[in-house]
Amino acid sequence: MKVIVAKDYAEMSLRAAEIVAKQIADKPDCVLGLATGSTPEGMYAELIKGCEAGKVDFSAVRTVNLDEYYPIKPENDQSYRYFMNEKLFDHVNIDKANTNVPNGMATDAAGEGARYEKIIEDLGGIDLQVLGIGQNGHIGFNEPAEELDPITHLADLTEETIRVNSRFFESVDDVPKQAFSMGMKSIFGARSIILMASGKNKHNAVAKTLEGKITTLCPATLLNLHPNVVLICDEDAYNG
Ligand code: GLP
Repeated sequence: MKVIVAKDYAEMSLRAAEIVAKQIADKPDCVLGLATGSTPEGMYAELIKGCEAGKVDFSAVRTVNLDEYYPIKPENDQSYRYFMNEKLFDHVNIDKANTNVPNGMATDAAGEGARYEKIIEDLGGIDLQVLGIGQNGHIGFNEPAEELDPITHLADLTEETIRVNSRFFESVDDVPKQAFSMGMKSIFGARSIILMASGKNKHNAVAKTLEGKITTLCPATLLNLHPNVVLICDEDAYNG
């Protein structure tokens, strides 16, 4: 795993945006795997600036998002579809028909998983996957567990994740208890991956990942098995 330590959140965002912009320049119709959460917000803002300046062209880009709460309607302002529209898609020249997020209202979980995997396959796989990391080392919503799911599935969120994510909701009771998430195989199919981390509260998960050993109890550690991962973190996440 290649490691880039940025001095702060702003620099981390810039470095990550540069990698995404280069991917788009190298392959204008590339498939980007995208993440939500606080971590990539600054990167999306940089990409919007790049698009406004005519330096980044999203017109042929296709996207697949990592995860979506369940049950949640796309128009709910806590949904990841809403987040992506608001933080990126509504501000760049992307064709929304080329953007994919799991269906947070799908009642047939297995069917939704199969449908989403088929989308990824039909796109020809993911060129560059952007990942954040949970404080407990989750990626997407692949939570620490003895066994992990390979493909897109309906995941039960841990109490810790529900608590951490409650900062975006009115109360902890409003946080959905489940979410659709790409699985480890869906993520590992990406030709390249950037893992982003910012802040002292991510230090333990980052340090565990950098130890180089692998455990499903910290899903991010499995990224040590992928041949093309760049960790972009700030000094707080790196040093604690
Ligand atoms: C969330 C998401 C992840 C995200 C992670 C970190 O629960 N499911 O995709 O990477 O937790 O979130 P944040 O960037 O807000 O710290």
